Amino acid sequence: MTTPLKLTRSKWLKLETYKKIREERIPDIIKPYAARTYPNILETIGDTPLVRLNRIFEGIPGNFYIKLESGNPGSTKDRIAHYMIEQAEKRGDLKPGGTIVEATSGNTGFGLAMVAAVKGYRCVFTTKDKISPEKLAALRALGAEVEVCPSGVPAEDPRSYYSRAKQLAKEIPGAFYVNQNFNRDNADAHYHSTGPEIWRQTHGNVTWFVAASGTGGTISGVARYLKEENPRIKVLGVDAVGSVLKKYHETGIFDPSEVKSYLLEGVGKNIITGNTDFELIDHFVQVNDKESAWAVREVAHKEGILVGFSSGAALSAVKHAAHMFHEKDVVVILAPDHGNLYFSKIFNDEWMKTHGLM
Ligand SMILES: Cc1ncc(COP(=O)(O)O)c(C=O)c1O
Repeated sequence: MTTPLKLTRSKWLKLETYKKIREERIPDIIKPYAARTYPNILETIGDTPLVRLNRIFEGIPGNFYIKLESGNPGSTKDRIAHYMIEQAEKRGDLKPGGTIVEATSGNTGFGLAMVAAVKGYRCVFTTKDKISPEKLAALRALGAEVEVCPSGVPAEDPRSYYSRAKQLAKEIPGAFYVNQNFNRDNADAHYHSTGPEIWRQTHGNVTWFVAASGTGGTISGVARYLKEENPRIKVLGVDAVGSVLKKYHETGIFDPSEVKSYLLEGVGKNIITGNTDFELIDHFVQVNDKESAWAVREVAHKEGILVGFSSGAALSAVKHAAHMFHEKDVVVILAPDHGNLYFSKIFNDEWMKTHGLM
């Protein structure tokens, strides 16, 4: 049994004084969060900061903001991982004691492994050999089993990370194959969270949304929400040189001859996914590895913001599209993950030189 704390008046006054001093020392910006606690790590997903970019786009008309998805425990993919698993549980596709199987370039895997740790599932992932060592280490740190597959092979090749994930899902009893490329809960997660956040954070003033497209979930879910709020909002998709998305968007042709290997992680595709709503995307810009890597370094130096490779791709795309923006535009650029996942790559001069980026 606990004894109720009895305070004399003088002790009480002393405590009140300490409390006041402490509160005065907490800067205003911290106060609203100071008393917040969360029942588990999954509840911290979302509500990420939107930060004005003041120097990197000097000379380009418009007001530029970056949505820092590194404010999630892992990346923007935490949102879809949480949502896709909860929906699978509701449908009965994933049962207690089941195994989560997915092909991942790293970030979705991190989100899924985090959800699995909290909820007690096993995780088996396939990934590509170009995954950054930091991302691979993070997956294994969270207890996931990971098979590394060759990149640069066609999706239907039995060695590809897609084929291997499908195969593993067939072999493992109680497996749920998440399939982020075709599982519409992916785009829906962004429709229900990222889109409304951007709308609220810009007080409905957003005029452009810029995001790298991989599975297409982020760009399609956010675009659907924003265009429902204001159909005049424009959406700029970011594709990689060596991917099929831009040509498919412009011509309706899936051209396998476009497919080349590249270093960017999470940007572009060698398939047409079920989560890319091409009609919601106004333009696509293709960017290369070099300009994307240098944009990552530039935003770190000029704005003090560490973001990942695909964020560099999106920043670079804004420069390509500079002629499309006007003085009053409010442009929101999504930064999917944190720069600390790329210290051994973009921020490593040796790696940059080895890959001809420096
Ligand atoms: C780092 C990174 N950026 C961008 C994307 C693309 O997002 P989406 O798959 O929602 O199109 C991904 C997807 O894997 C990613 O891992």
